[in-house]
Amino acid sequence: EKGGYDWFMLKEIAEQPQAVADTLLGRLGENGELVLDEVRLSDQELRDIDKVFVVACGTAYHAGLIAKYAIEHWTRIPVEVELASEFRYRDPVLDRSTLVVVISQSGETMDTLMALRHARDQKARVLAICNANGSTIPRESDAVLYTHAGPEVAVASTKGFLTQVVACYLVGLFLAQVRGVKYADEVASIVDDLRELPAAVSQVLAGMEPVRELARSLATEDTLLFLGRHVGYPVALEGALKLKELAYIHAEGFAAGELKHGSIALIGPGTPVVVVVPSPRSRGSVHGKVVSNIQEVRARGARTIVVAEEGDDDVLPYADHLIRVPRTPTLLAPVVTTVPLQVLACEIADTRGLDVDQPRNLAKSVTVE
Ligand code: F6R
Repeated sequence: EKGGYDWFMLKEIAEQPQAVADTLLGRLGENGELVLDEVRLSDQELRDIDKVFVVACGTAYHAGLIAKYAIEHWTRIPVEVELASEFRYRDPVLDRSTLVVVISQSGETMDTLMALRHARDQKARVLAICNANGSTIPRESDAVLYTHAGPEVAVASTKGFLTQVVACYLVGLFLAQVRGVKYADEVASIVDDLRELPAAVSQVLAGMEPVRELARSLATEDTLLFLGRHVGYPVALEGALKLKELAYIHAEGFAAGELKHGSIALIGPGTPVVVVVPSPRSRGSVHGKVVSNIQEVRARGARTIVVAEEGDDDVLPYADHLIRVPRTPTLLAPVVTTVPLQVLACEIADTRGLDVDQPRNLAKSVTVE
């Protein structure tokens, strides 16, 4: 049933191009138009939304952090992202014109379910992004957008995550479309870019042998740091979470710009630092700033593992290890940059002789608060 793979996780990582394609299937219409018939909120309800909350746990929360960048940019609606376990305990400001997007692969996570009930009690509209058909969370929501990842068996979410990110893009673009925002041209070209994602993920997967080798050389480390900026920041958090849960190695993700505000003190001789580099086409000078961060950590002894777009040669002088990903529009980059970090965590755990599919102390769906 593992289809020739040693672990379900490896099989599910390999299924990601198909999972992404299936999540897009039938939803990208002609002329950059999105077709999301399942979202049973009327155009008027969607136009009335003046605030979005994205609420989720763990890996799904990281998908939510990425959603914030995309939804705000495309729709100009303010978006807040919150951990489900915190959301209802701080009395968030919610009303009829608030859209609460809950993200859950399993659809059974108790923290997320309780947050959704709280949101509905406060009259907010709830849209679920979910993978498990007919599970509790979509049943209790006003609307649902299913990710079509297929069953995810490994405890660590991989194709679940990538398809959640894609579903968040669809929600953002759909809101932009219904509300007729000024980024209309950009939105149409992004729809074309979405169609390229499955092939881009396949391309990343085809180049993973050096990552496997690298993983073997990292298996005895006791700490790894992950840096990212803009949408690369949630990717760094996700890379660190995967490593913690699978390899039981201390790992932390940081916003690269925060390094100088404290965390850089952690870096000593040989500390492995994974850096997710934004596209050179990113807004502002974010790319150059992250390249400077790589230089800074290396000057303090770090062993740098750099995830950068093809053709980005600025990183070459500072990368001890270079992982290439295909050129992708800035906001869509997490769909490609996350993949090598999944493989890295999986292979490090395997090298350490651990059970990749069933890490200690964890369950696939967390049905207690
Ligand atoms: C980590 C992981 C968890 C889940 C989290 C939410 O790899 O899988 O962090 O993402 O428990 O689960 P769902 O998405 O089922 O609500």
